[in-house]
Amino acid sequence: MPQPDLGFTLMPDGGGRGIAVPEVPEVAFPRVDCFLESEAAAHALGFAFTSGLIDRLARRADTAAVELADEFRFERPQFACLIGLLVGAGIAAEPEPGRIGLTEAFRAVLPCRDLIEAKLAFAAAASEDLRQHFPAFVADLPAFMAASRTFELFRYDRCFEITPDNLDATRRWVAYTTCLTRYEAGPCLDRIEPGRHLRLLDLGGNSGEFAAQACRRAPNLTATVFDLPVVCALGRENLANRAEGARVMFLAGDMRRGPIPEGHDLVTFKSVLHDWPAEEARALLEQAARALAPGGRLVIYERAPMALRQRPLGYVQSADLVFQPFFRDADLYIETLAMLGFVDCTVRGLALETPFHLIESRKPGGVR
Ligand SMILES: C[S@@+](CC[C@H](N)C(=O)[O-])C[C@H]1O[C@@H](n2cnc3c(N)ncnc32)[C@H](O)[C@@H]1O
Repeated sequence: MPQPDLGFTLMPDGGGRGIAVPEVPEVAFPRVDCFLESEAAAHALGFAFTSGLIDRLARRADTAAVELADEFRFERPQFACLIGLLVGAGIAAEPEPGRIGLTEAFRAVLPCRDLIEAKLAFAAAASEDLRQHFPAFVADLPAFMAASRTFELFRYDRCFEITPDNLDATRRWVAYTTCLTRYEAGPCLDRIEPGRHLRLLDLGGNSGEFAAQACRRAPNLTATVFDLPVVCALGRENLANRAEGARVMFLAGDMRRGPIPEGHDLVTFKSVLHDWPAEEARALLEQAARALAPGGRLVIYERAPMALRQRPLGYVQSADLVFQPFFRDADLYIETLAMLGFVDCTVRGLALETPFHLIESRKPGGVR
């Protein structure tokens, strides 16, 4: 079927249509998944973190294996097994027989230990769900979601009433999304240049991490994070001690019911729209479009479906596989924006550890 001409500029991976524009290499984004491809190695790394072995190895270029085994009171065969797994995964190396150190590649990502540990924890839960309930994942997705630990975590119904229990339950997944966004925000903000705007509205903006990073880059920007009441309460905590937090306001509400606050010249959805069926995602875009100031920009930054056919999926990608049925091509979003009269639409594919769409579009009117 011929594709309608929507008047959009499409960039690589934007659904395979449009002109090719070379993608900027992701130099600043930490690549950690390569160390977590094997389940056994992931367990080895988790244990090496909690036992203090990684900290110990990080202090010196390399150390005698026997010295480490004695210090940590490990039996030699098990210690050899642990080290073998770490070496096989590219985390550790043996520069000479009997000596062990961290590889340069792993040292380079060690400052992002929070991300590695968050991924380890989430992959453990997701892979357990897939192990136990794979038939339901394929044949009965609602049953998979009802039975799985990963979907049990994201209980938005517990985000309306601020109670100690709801705060505790919500804190567990908000810690994960905040950690991912700490690293995923940069590649988006590098491209959209928030300094071109004065007032940002981040819908489903969670703990304010994305908004705070935007404000840090743009001294004249102020931001509103719109999210559910319990999430906003945690967001205020998250930004309490950050200088840019003073320019981020939290507004609690239900974006499906509105009203969404007006007067913003940049509206963003980061990893939000895939949560919603097509009709509701369209309705959210309509609400956002109405609230956006004329001439303002709407940005959608969303995970795209993973390319499963190219190679066997690694252990750590279980964390995204459970959400794969919800990740969409960009078409629904760009068609909705076109229907809403938006112009100057660009779609880029960002090759982070998993693929992302970065869709930008402008509401007509206003002064440019
Ligand atoms: C998958 S999370 C993404 C969060 C954040 N944008 C990020 O990338 O880390 C979806 C967000 O939408 C929020 N959300 C869900 N339903 C909502 C609603 N009805 N109104 C406002 N926010 C909602 C959730 O609380 C959550 O913060």
